[in-house]
Amino acid sequence: MNITMKNDLAVNGGTKTVTKSFTWPVFDESDVQAVTQVAQSGQWGNPDCGGLVEKFEKEFATYCGSKYAIACVNGSVSLRLALIASGVRPGDEVIVPPYSFIATASTVIEANCVPVFVDIEPDTYNLDPSKIEAAITSRTRAIIPVHFAGQACDMDRIMEIAKKHNLFVVEDAAHGHGGEYKGKKLGSIGHAGSFSFQSSKNLNSGEGGLVITNDETLYNLMNSLRNVGRVKGGQWYEHHYAGCNYRITQFQAALLSRQLTRLEAQTKLRDENGKYLNTLLEPIEGITPLTRGHGETLHTYHLYIFKYDKTKFNGLPKKEFSEMLAAEGVPSFMGYPKPIYEQPLFQKKNFMCYAIPDYVDYSDVHCPVAEHACYEEAIWILQHAMLGTKEDMNQFVEAIKKIKRAV
Ligand SMILES: Cc1ncc(COP(=O)(O)O)c(C=O)c1O
Repeated sequence: MNITMKNDLAVNGGTKTVTKSFTWPVFDESDVQAVTQVAQSGQWGNPDCGGLVEKFEKEFATYCGSKYAIACVNGSVSLRLALIASGVRPGDEVIVPPYSFIATASTVIEANCVPVFVDIEPDTYNLDPSKIEAAITSRTRAIIPVHFAGQACDMDRIMEIAKKHNLFVVEDAAHGHGGEYKGKKLGSIGHAGSFSFQSSKNLNSGEGGLVITNDETLYNLMNSLRNVGRVKGGQWYEHHYAGCNYRITQFQAALLSRQLTRLEAQTKLRDENGKYLNTLLEPIEGITPLTRGHGETLHTYHLYIFKYDKTKFNGLPKKEFSEMLAAEGVPSFMGYPKPIYEQPLFQKKNFMCYAIPDYVDYSDVHCPVAEHACYEEAIWILQHAMLGTKEDMNQFVEAIKKIKRAV
């Protein structure tokens, strides 16, 4: 460890490498006007799922090249709506990756089903298609591939396996708005595609979610489920399914329509910056960007992820490296502390009223790639920083090099 250089690190009181502050969300007077107009209209709610909500649903479905969209309160409920509408039954198994936000698996529990964890690929951190078939049993009904960080999963292989075993595929595209796989928008390839509009997401209305599909029956069922079981043409107090009020407000829809007009340009900018960062980081020993070239034609970089190897940083643990990088002013984070199956929900079987069979036990589950990503390897740069300039990207790399020189 070089003492002078160590003292220069921002974490030790030295000057930050990156002084610019990166803001999110991006908005202007037109967003403010759109929300103001809703306030002035007095039509704040959305009892019929029409108005601005229906307008946004049509815009988003068209943008994704899908027939139908159902907006709902968040990207967890959207996953659950798709699962429930797919016809799963209590105790059915659903294949999920362990390196994701908890909702990818907890919504499976909330659908009375059993999440089965299949490890991720070491070079993309996406569900590893080569490991899926070994996890399929007579109870398997669905797969939830997560386009993690906005990088497309290997959808050709996943859809092929799903077809062979008659499985329902819900793409978890919570990170994937605007991203593409072989020219197709993420979310539009499986039987349903789920999105989140929570405040950190690349398309954001504070909270919100949405499911797209081309299947009319699925659409009608999800539409009913998000609106307390009402059906088209039915009476107000006529309820056909065990749904709930999962509707979004006109305020959210107005914002989303405005935000959607910026999405394509923002996604292309992040994609360009991501490719540029890859070229800058690849030569640095101990830093390996995740691999592209698995079919993603547009990467959303909801997160820019690189793999950190402490052995090339004088044994500096990932957590400390991550804190140093953030202190240097790079909007970055060490990511998930553990794979989903290690959360108390699974280890303590805190399944409460959900109909999870007694034999289900996660104490022996191990997905070594996901574990390595959590404990040793993954560093995330956040999406709003990926909207910066090339000079900003150069500075992120400078910050990494500064740490490397100091340790
Ligand atoms: C991969 C993934 N799936 C689902 C969700 C759930 O979205 P929400 O927070 O809108 O419920 C998130 C949210 O962070 C996510 O990252």
